[in-house]
Amino acid sequence: MNRNTIWISGANGKIGKILQRYLDPLEDEVLATDKDIVDIVNSDETSIFARRNRPNIIINCSALTDPVVCQEHPDEAFRVNALGARNMAVAANTVDAKLIHMSTDDVFSGQSRSAYREYDAPHPTTMYGKSKLMGESFVREFSVKHFILRTSWLFSPVNHRVEDIIKEARENGKVVVPRAQFSSPTSAYQLAEFIVTLMNTYEYGIYHASCQGVASRKEFAEEILRIKGIDAEIIEDENLRIAGHRPDFTALENFLLNTSKIYEFPDWKSSLKAYIEKNNL
Ligand SMILES: NC(=O)c1ccc[n+]([C@@H]2O[C@H](COP(=O)([O-])OP(=O)(O)OC[C@H]3O[C@@H](n4cnc5c(N)ncnc54)[C@H](OP(=O)(O)O)[C@@H]3O)[C@@H](O)[C@H]2O)c1
Repeated sequence: MNRNTIWISGANGKIGKILQRYLDPLEDEVLATDKDIVDIVNSDETSIFARRNRPNIIINCSALTDPVVCQEHPDEAFRVNALGARNMAVAANTVDAKLIHMSTDDVFSGQSRSAYREYDAPHPTTMYGKSKLMGESFVREFSVKHFILRTSWLFSPVNHRVEDIIKEARENGKVVVPRAQFSSPTSAYQLAEFIVTLMNTYEYGIYHASCQGVASRKEFAEEILRIKGIDAEIIEDENLRIAGHRPDFTALENFLLNTSKIYEFPDWKSSLKAYIEKNNL
């Protein structure tokens, strides 16, 4: 296989960091940038970087991801998540690169009670979700060789989602989580493995890319404590749910991946167990 030149934009973010750890520099050349090097909102900067370095694969992990910040600053959310995505798509097309664009379960309204498939109509209710959906449309419109990956509730050593629950339980004897929020918890390692598999294919399109199954925040915390054998109370807080600006139910079903058999994500419980063991938590 030829050596890839891979440009990761948003390389200092949570997925960007895991991807950098995952990619083998002996196999692929990795160009890692964040907004201090290439601000994707700036179309000239973005295109010039692509034309100078001629990556054959671009992974766009750049985004404004804090739903509260997006809600309070919609202009900034749309600049980065929509126009920035457009600029990356134009740049990818200019150099004929494959574009892997990260998106989110928050493009769905959260009104469903069964996992969303790729053909379900998105209907975002938050500024984060709306700006990300517009980014997806731009990627479709302006780049030919694209993969749009919607994922959900990532846990990794970078965001400490699992580690924080264990710490809170040990220190306080209780864990407080948002009430009645459901999605598909996903290991960032698993996602990185999938991205590396997919980027060497020509299976373009949109994919739901999460570990299989559905959990509430409470069930996720319960499973962590069960695996660790920690006895602590889990309290669901309605205020955390409202303040977080997240839709209530955004579980994803990897319908197209399961149909095409390109890659099979494990269920979230076994992935979580493997994560806890691998990291000696
Ligand atoms: N983590 C999850 O659970 C999750 C779930 C579903 C989908 N996703 C999607 O996955 C992608 C990456 O998520 P993440 O969790 O890695 O996000 P993240 O940790 O917030 O990282 C995003 C990165 O993009 C950078 N960035 C912001 N504005 C930029 C700009 N104008 N130009 C270049 N870079 C810019 C950020 O820099 P600053 O921090 O300096 O602003 C940050 O380093 C996003 O598209 C997100 O929607 C993530």
